[in-house]
Amino acid sequence: MVRMLPVEPAALEEAAGLLAAGELVAFPTETVYGLGANALDDAAVARIYAAKGRPGINPLIAHFFDADRAAAYAVFDADARRLADAFWPGPLTLVLPRPPDSPLVDRATAGLATVGVRVPVHPAARALLALVDFPVVAPSANRSGSLSPTLPAHVVASLGEAVALVLDAGPCPVGLESTVLDLTGDVPVVLRPGAVTPAALAAVLGRPVLETPPAEGPVRSPGLLLKHYAPDTRVRLEARHLEADEALLAFGDPGPLAAGLPATQWRNLSPGADLAEAAANLFAMLEELDRPEHAAIAVMPIPEEGIGVAINDRLRRAARGR
Ligand code: TXA
Ligand code: MG
Repeated sequence: MVRMLPVEPAALEEAAGLLAAGELVAFPTETVYGLGANALDDAAVARIYAAKGRPGINPLIAHFFDADRAAAYAVFDADARRLADAFWPGPLTLVLPRPPDSPLVDRATAGLATVGVRVPVHPAARALLALVDFPVVAPSANRSGSLSPTLPAHVVASLGEAVALVLDAGPCPVGLESTVLDLTGDVPVVLRPGAVTPAALAAVLGRPVLETPPAEGPVRSPGLLLKHYAPDTRVRLEARHLEADEALLAFGDPGPLAAGLPATQWRNLSPGADLAEAAANLFAMLEELDRPEHAAIAVMPIPEEGIGVAINDRLRRAARGR
């Protein structure tokens, strides 16, 4: 049995102690549940890759209580400081140069000369990070390639015994992984869209932000090469009708699409067509419809605006499959 505890002072103390001892602890963030390890402990970091079945070329994000604590582990230029002031704590990861004397174990960044740093805003994550005197590397707490967990039950189902403790704070409010912004090149590049949009980033920086990694040149985010976010069931996008035995993932008013469907065969991301609500529901609802009796999961169109861009990114990855 995996230990799961509600977020209370004693549980947080226990979680901090387990991390210090090299164990893996799953904890809630505003985006998704993270699988945490002490970023200064090579064996602990290796345990993350093993637990997730994660390729060793895919770097991890280091989590900190605040930007001050992150300063010893990443080189902040003026742009990075401005963005940290504007968006931290919150769902933004900055990819920055790694200082030569960084105490972070090489395995955490997959040997790269850069590091992804993030200061989450979820009160449970903040309370945990306040208790430790080391950075916490934390990928999403799922097996590599499958859907990210937005509920503690997803963590247990995906990772089971590899986790020493799961801190339970219920559903994650944002529901999609953090925006990853690479600040190490000539132009800032969003490597992974999220709740913090390119427009919001550009407004703070006072210059344009590239929305997709350039097709040419070196690959800046190895994780993006890999298949991600895929349920076992096929996913069909932009659905305007339903084929036999397909499940429906609706957005807004499904009209005749949902007519006569049993409750097990459809979910609505947001009956009122609210994109933030849809983002928060996305992974849990995909998981609920991921059943062998469904020929596919048919997803109604989602507007490509605001956090809808990130929702569609995850859906396209899901549709590409394994
Ligand atoms: O919201 C989140 O970011 C969650 C929560 C737990 O904080 N974490 C998360 O981690 O989504 P993970 O490992 O599932 O995704 C991290 C992404 C991967 O695509 C990885 O390749 C990229 O960030 N990444 C991390 N460090 C990088 C670096 N130095 N350069 C380029 N990409 C990096
Ligand atoms: Mg992940």
